[in-house]
Amino acid sequence: MTEIQGADRTNFDAFCGYHQTWAGQPDPLLTRTGPGTPCGEFLRRYWHPVFIAGELGDQPKLIKILGEELVLFRDRSGRYGLVHKHCPHRRASLEYGRCENRGIRCCYHGWLFDIDGTVLDLPGEPENSRSATNVKSKMRLGAYPVREYRGLLFAYLGPASETPEFPIYDTFEIPEMVMTPYAAPFECNWIQVLDAIVDPVHTAFLHHSQFSDGFGVLGEIEFYHRDRIRFLGTATRRVRDNVWVRVNELILPNFTQSGAAFATDGSRVKYFGRSAFTRWVVPVDDHRCIAYAWGNFGDRGDPMEWNTPEGMQIIEQGELIDRTYEEKQASPGDVEAVEGMGRISDHEKEYLVSGDRGVVMYRTQIKKLCRSLQRGKPPPQPGDLGEGVIPTYGSDTVIRCQEEAGTDDAEVLRDINARVMDTIFAGDALDGAARDHEIIRGLKTIA
Ligand code: FES
Ligand SMILES: [Fe+2]
Repeated sequence: MTEIQGADRTNFDAFCGYHQTWAGQPDPLLTRTGPGTPCGEFLRRYWHPVFIAGELGDQPKLIKILGEELVLFRDRSGRYGLVHKHCPHRRASLEYGRCENRGIRCCYHGWLFDIDGTVLDLPGEPENSRSATNVKSKMRLGAYPVREYRGLLFAYLGPASETPEFPIYDTFEIPEMVMTPYAAPFECNWIQVLDAIVDPVHTAFLHHSQFSDGFGVLGEIEFYHRDRIRFLGTATRRVRDNVWVRVNELILPNFTQSGAAFATDGSRVKYFGRSAFTRWVVPVDDHRCIAYAWGNFGDRGDPMEWNTPEGMQIIEQGELIDRTYEEKQASPGDVEAVEGMGRISDHEKEYLVSGDRGVVMYRTQIKKLCRSLQRGKPPPQPGDLGEGVIPTYGSDTVIRCQEEAGTDDAEVLRDINARVMDTIFAGDALDGAARDHEIIRGLKTIA
């Protein structure tokens, strides 16, 4: 590409517009997710949610994940299948296929495929003929394993021989938590959406008017990188006589949690309240992604009255999705912030500062893991983070602590943050209710 005359990346003089019109480039290692790309390969080593089970009817559904067009279906015996779009015979689309007791039948010449891609029947060929036998023994339709968990359908798109264990996180099994699946589409690259979870600074500016006044305080920001694939961004804020520690969490490649959306404003004491959402940011292709999640409701999550489609949109994006342009301008949410960057942001033109440390940390690690995989080293799995159920940290804790005249309150906040995080980390040795109990007991001793 020929750069225009006058373009100068280093010229930031007043009124430097003329010099800043050079075209930046997205980071290809982070943004390209199709088959065969380094990041696409990395993402293909993990389970991802790909659809909401309750929205899959009797007909097959054409979906796109990681740049692949795929057909999702449930056969009449209730088994889920996820297969390549095109029939391997003469390429008809299986979205027009028919779900049978066992597998899916192509509409064109009636070939029948099992959920693992095995060819079960070629009705146009004489039975036991050489060609029928050859097809059945040598050829399979491209297929991926699917499993349902609490109303979300998860798939693994990597090599079958490397299928990882399906990870079970602690927040999948909190007693009495009502978990409602939702899907939120974004018309932009997945990295733009993922960035926000390790960016506690944006909350104070983008969300200050959407949830509560407490969100509008920047507070003390801290970042943590643990166990190779876990990243945390904490914001510790003073809310009158309380100190509120909010923990945002990312487990690579794309699992995210935070604190509550409505149930915490820092005004009431709370110990280890859990995330409003348990969520994955899944690339559709390089220009679109979908956040698949459960909204979490109950005593440890958000109030049941927000268990509505609108409530979940607000939890996900800070605002309702379907709004006029004027409404969006007046009160932008996450979707406006990240889609406004364009379909794929020009990372080369970003100017990162200390508040972006979390973003830099996790992007660097993704790129490192992509390169290692290119050299043949499989990436770490969430299952490496714990035996059995995997502990997670996304949470809110609000501790009573009056501001004292003559003390450096920022230092007090940093000290409380460190003690809260140490207490949460110390719970790793335990599981489930015992872990929660121990963390809450420890948090109550901090003041
Ligand atoms: S194209 Fe599918 S059976 Fe012929
Ligand atoms: Fe946000």
